[in-house]
Amino acid sequence: MITKCLFPVAGYGTRFLPATKAMPKEILPVVNKPLVQYGVEEAVEAGIHQFGFVTGRGKRAIEDHFDISYELEHQIQGTGKEDRLASISDLINNNTFAFTRQNQMKGLGHAILTGRNLVGDSAFAVILADDLCLPEPGEPGVLAQMVALYKQFRCSIVAIEEVPADETHKYGVIAGETMKDGLYRITDMVEKPAPEDAPSNLAIIGRYLLTPDIFDILARTEPGKNGEVQITDALLEQAKNGCVLAYQFKGRRFDCGSIDGFVEATNYVYENIYKAD
Ligand code: UTP
Repeated sequence: MITKCLFPVAGYGTRFLPATKAMPKEILPVVNKPLVQYGVEEAVEAGIHQFGFVTGRGKRAIEDHFDISYELEHQIQGTGKEDRLASISDLINNNTFAFTRQNQMKGLGHAILTGRNLVGDSAFAVILADDLCLPEPGEPGVLAQMVALYKQFRCSIVAIEEVPADETHKYGVIAGETMKDGLYRITDMVEKPAPEDAPSNLAIIGRYLLTPDIFDILARTEPGKNGEVQITDALLEQAKNGCVLAYQFKGRRFDCGSIDGFVEATNYVYENIYKAD
């Protein structure tokens, strides 16, 4: 089954400069919780307890976040504020966190390949923490929905959503045969196409379940669009030789890698989760 989740978090987060000069974008808080913690919680809900992070220079705050802070715990002991650490303490106590570094930013595909030693030889999940995915109230999270599908189909699965035509250039875009409502077998994939070159308006978002043969494919994948090793190129090879599914998930996604999406997520979480608590 899917027991491990990889977080590629080596990117520079240039859209958030100067905020991300000394702080990883994955640590930016949506209300009172860092983006990356939402991702880890989503994976835990999907039954995953082993986490691997592909980090880079300037990302140590992520390691610190998933480690005990004795001094802080000591300071707030008996002050009534202990519950503010409860969610992160719970994650630290019940999961394992491993880290490796991507020392050159050669793209998402290269970052995933860098995580190979953390993942081993089984199917695994990938979360891009800057896509914040929230389920409909009372419904399972996106990764849990995908894990349920994996149990049935046993092949790589990417999460997709419909995007406006003028936004296809920001995503990998798929073409596929409909298997059932919201589920496609991928036949083609184009990385960041102009609207006229896009094979559909179905864009890949930051949730993947990958079978481990992806690593050998990535190892021989040449740099593609923007000179980066693209996960979409490797997935297309997998799709042509076997099967890759695209799943139109249920829930909401916020592009927290962009300022607009981040503000939208903050307002949504404040109104619907934080105040409702
Ligand atoms: P992005 O291109 O959206 O992230 O990469 P970025 O580079 O951090 O942000 P901007 O565009 O400069 O603002 C998508 C995801 O892939 C990871 C990033 O950390 C992000 O989660 N990534 C990308 C890597 O880990 N390594 C890479 O070489 C490239």
